[in-house]
Amino acid sequence: EFGNTIQYSLYKGHVFPPHVPTNARDLVTNTAQLKCRQEDVLLYTYPKSGTHWMYNILHMFLTGTMTYANPTYLEFNDIDMINTMPSPRLFTTHLEVDLFPDDIKNGKGIVVNIIRNPKDVAVSYYCFLSAMKSVGFTGDFSGFLHFFLKEEFFFGNWFTAIKHWIDIKKTYPKMKTITLYYEDLKRNTLSNLERVVEFLGVSRDEEFCRKVMAETDFTKMKKKHESKSCEHFKTVTKDGVLPVYRKGDVGDWKQWFTPEQNKHFDRVYKERLAGYNVDLVFE
Ligand code: A3P
Repeated sequence: EFGNTIQYSLYKGHVFPPHVPTNARDLVTNTAQLKCRQEDVLLYTYPKSGTHWMYNILHMFLTGTMTYANPTYLEFNDIDMINTMPSPRLFTTHLEVDLFPDDIKNGKGIVVNIIRNPKDVAVSYYCFLSAMKSVGFTGDFSGFLHFFLKEEFFFGNWFTAIKHWIDIKKTYPKMKTITLYYEDLKRNTLSNLERVVEFLGVSRDEEFCRKVMAETDFTKMKKKHESKSCEHFKTVTKDGVLPVYRKGDVGDWKQWFTPEQNKHFDRVYKERLAGYNVDLVFE
């Protein structure tokens, strides 16, 4: 469509990137059955919303160290590996809320969600997919926006995902959650980190939070990441580096959206989120 191509893998109505088909297949049935522990922490994000950033913040708070970690995804890992991870386990997922483990839905373990404004998510996603070999994406930003606004997109549609999240208290009243916003995390980092500490129930003082803030600063994380080479990324990306650390800014979408695209997007946003009380910051 629009001279753009992309490769999907469809399973039970859910759209996954093609390079994870077998795991993705298992996970739909397996994560529901995943036995959770009281001290489990699940980071839930729509892709490109700051997963790596928040994962490392959580990892530092949970371990009490300034060490970096690659996210452990429920959907990209072997369930046996997840089952044998030592407590407190930290894992992440882009899976839609309906696919969360039943235990999590019932209040065993806690869920951290980070939400980012969808215009920056779209740009970040476009740049990411353009750099990946494995999804066979070709095309321009305009064609990408078309995919992004469709219901069938990797891990679902952004609008649908956010609506499900907002409804979570009604759908799964026992689930223990905290919602953070990418833009606010950038602007008021320390106070957000203190909220996270309280939610995790760990005791980390202000000095520790300040250290985490410095260690997870965009430039620092980017440098750290790029100094590591990873065989896996060499096979799935075009230039061998997983393109996760790009700009890390709020409002970069302005460099990408034409006035027409922006108008259309605003219209869709208004329509799709009508009746939902979301107040996202776009710049
Ligand atoms: P951009 O492409 O806009 O730069 P995810 O980890 O969910 O894949 O999200 C990736 C996005 O988060 C990228 O956005 C990336 O630059 C940004 N990001 C990664 N680490 C960050 C950090 N420490 N601070 C702010 N943004 C960060």
